[in-house]
Amino acid sequence: MAAQEKTLVIFDTDPGIDDAMALLFLKAQSSLELKAITTVFGNAETDITTRNALYLTQRFGIDAPVYAGATKPLAIKRLPAPTFVHGDDGLGDAGMLDGFSAEPAVGEAADKIIEIVRANPGKVTILAVAPLTNLALAIQRDPGIAPLVKDVVVMGGAFAWGGKRGNVTPVAEANIHNDPHAADIVFTAEWPVAAIGLDVTSHCVATNADAADLAESGAAGQFLWDISRGYEALYLRSQHVNGCCLHDVAAAVYLVAPELFTMRSGAVRVVTDGIAIGQSIQKLDGHVFGPNAWEGHPSKLVAADADYPGIVRVYKDAIRSLR
Ligand code: BDR
Ligand code: CA
Repeated sequence: MAAQEKTLVIFDTDPGIDDAMALLFLKAQSSLELKAITTVFGNAETDITTRNALYLTQRFGIDAPVYAGATKPLAIKRLPAPTFVHGDDGLGDAGMLDGFSAEPAVGEAADKIIEIVRANPGKVTILAVAPLTNLALAIQRDPGIAPLVKDVVVMGGAFAWGGKRGNVTPVAEANIHNDPHAADIVFTAEWPVAAIGLDVTSHCVATNADAADLAESGAAGQFLWDISRGYEALYLRSQHVNGCCLHDVAAAVYLVAPELFTMRSGAVRVVTDGIAIGQSIQKLDGHVFGPNAWEGHPSKLVAADADYPGIVRVYKDAIRSLR
């Protein structure tokens, strides 16, 4: 029997503690081939997220070039990085990055997205777990890539199907709030998009016991334990969650186990100004209203529910397999 063709993946990211978890999860997937890692501002500034991506690739032998991307949002002012969540170094201030420096590959993230998609029509999934600026720039520069992309899978938004409406404001999730204009471009473009929002990812919790298990299983698990001590303490302190929410991991799991998710179809728009800036709203297919801002825009898939223990299990199996 012919070997199954691998899905080619561009991982657009702002590492970031849960981004690091997602990247190690991707490394463990034999059905995926990581073509490139593209970085952006978000959890830290782009020079830091790029350095972190380079560190992760070198330390864990991940064979993919890292391209630096956007340093600020398309239209609004860059908001301060959430150092109280991911640390000054973006990876939990665990001392991992001390003395580390490396240069990214030559080329800008958005241009590389265009180049890779054009070279592999119908084969590339873009997994975006950060502000969507690089993706918006790519589609603005070359709208012709939209039908050539296999799928765009986003960790972003808070659609309230699973409860939550936001983490940076009462109605906005961080990745979308960081660049709402870019997000609205990505959600209204003519490419397939599946969004795994905060309302679903917040239920994907790896407990302290899960993390301890993984720490015992090998170097990858130990690394994730080391960088996530402050992150876990913050969840306990601020949200009474006993463990870490696997936000970016959940979107990565969708690539290999979409059957774990219940998805709803409908157009998605993002609020780009006012007190609800960054709010992501889906209008379900078949729901009829008066004239509205969702009309004429293509339907996207949005997660409404998931097999949460199943997602944590798939994640743990993957990290364990890295040893
Ligand atoms: C998202 O924002 C970032 O802090 C995380 O890495 C994740 O991508 C959650 O809102
Ligand atoms: Ca992220």
